[in-house]
Amino acid sequence: MACAGSLLLLSACGAPQSALNPRGPASSEIALLWWVLFWISVAVTVVVFGSLGWALFRPRHAPDATRTESPRLFLVLGVAIPSIILIGTFGLNMRTILATATPGSPPAVDLQIVGRQWWWEVRYVQPGPSFTTANELHIPVGQPVHLELLAPDVIHSFWVPELQKKTDMIPGQTNSTWIQADEPGDYRGQCAEYCGEQHGHMAFHVVAQPPDQFQAWLAAQQKPAAQPGPDQSRGVQVFSSAGCIGCHAIRYGSGAVGGGIGPDLTHLASRSTIAAGELANNRGNLGGWIVNSQAIKPGNYMPPIPISGDDLQALLDYLESLK
Ligand code: CUA
Repeated sequence: MACAGSLLLLSACGAPQSALNPRGPASSEIALLWWVLFWISVAVTVVVFGSLGWALFRPRHAPDATRTESPRLFLVLGVAIPSIILIGTFGLNMRTILATATPGSPPAVDLQIVGRQWWWEVRYVQPGPSFTTANELHIPVGQPVHLELLAPDVIHSFWVPELQKKTDMIPGQTNSTWIQADEPGDYRGQCAEYCGEQHGHMAFHVVAQPPDQFQAWLAAQQKPAAQPGPDQSRGVQVFSSAGCIGCHAIRYGSGAVGGGIGPDLTHLASRSTIAAGELANNRGNLGGWIVNSQAIKPGNYMPPIPISGDDLQALLDYLESLK
């Protein structure tokens, strides 16, 4: 599944990625507000341009020196009606802010999302053993999920248009939000605050699953990586010798190896995309990314990895075993 980029309201894979396609309680409130404001704007536009047209094209009479404009008409048309509309729409906005601030029931899952240049670290901190993944959130359908939003480097903004409003991620401050999907599906999200060269390629996916499927996914992710077999031993060596281990963690029962600034790879092969939603997660894309990710996302923090073809194949064998 490669759903990089978006064109108007449709992402490249055809799935709508639009706040006007609400799939959760919060986004439904936002879409309702959008439509109410839209129709108020239409009404105001019709009245204003209708009045202008009437003023321009009404039958003219000779100037009448005794006629004066009514100040009462000015007060009603120029002050009272606009004030009522502005105060009314302000009230509607406040209502929507309150309605989307907190979920209707206690959150089923607690997550921490860390905005990075330029990918998303996703930490499942509850329930059960915590683990870290990247660029792909799984959530149980029909249940609110609480998100703590962190940013160690620059300001990002977390946005899943079909599920919730934007929430900024600000260094030195912890913001929080919640999401809930009413239907199973794959909802594309993206960074909504300019955060550097690859801001436009900082996407993620929210996969909403029926609760039993979500629990199965959770249980699989909580497990450590499978111990590498003889077929992966050369790949394990390359993972160290080529330098991957300096930035990427893989969690084993005996403890994690590696780590630092890149995505956790414990269950890399279970993810649908790599490079923050940029590429489908398949062997060819993964190989290309490892050899020269700078050709795909210039400026990202992963340097080109100069390794032989045989070493690359062994490394890919190992990474693809991390299901
Ligand atoms: Cu992160 Cu824009």
